[in-house]
Amino acid sequence: MAIRKIITPPNPLLKQPSLKVQEVDDGIRQLIRDMFDTMYAAPGIGLAAVQVGEPLSIIVMDIHSGEKDKEPRPIAMINPEIMWTSDRIVPHQEGCLSVPDIYDEVERPAEVQVRWLDELGNRQERLFTGLEAVCVQHEIDHTKGILFLDHLSRLKRERYLKKVIKRAQQEMAS
Ligand code: NI
Repeated sequence: MAIRKIITPPNPLLKQPSLKVQEVDDGIRQLIRDMFDTMYAAPGIGLAAVQVGEPLSIIVMDIHSGEKDKEPRPIAMINPEIMWTSDRIVPHQEGCLSVPDIYDEVERPAEVQVRWLDELGNRQERLFTGLEAVCVQHEIDHTKGILFLDHLSRLKRERYLKKVIKRAQQEMAS
């Protein structure tokens, strides 16, 4: 079990697009295990590799993370790509392990079709709805250097970023 440190702004990696994985090997599978350990420990329902300092196009999610009475639903995606989005847009309250203690409403397509490679390097494709659709879009954004704050007004984004950076500085000082 390896819990990795989750990076926060102003770390420039969070704004950088991740690289595509060229080969799904044991190193990639180990990184995915670490990402699940880190996500469940937080706890959170999704995590992108860049958030643990590895700018590779990999995300993990489990919308039942942190819910003891529900079956785990882990999904790991390598090089995920959105193939289709619904016209219907829905608002949802989002948060992010890299932007601790800040939550705000983001509007996104209600349904998305996603294609990716699984841990064995096999192609997968599926439609995501509900909370999974929110989560998969949020995590794919991370692989493009986009935070959920980037979907908010500039005023809100700057206010939230100031808060996150101040908090990180206080933690370092204490
Ligand atoms: Ni996030």
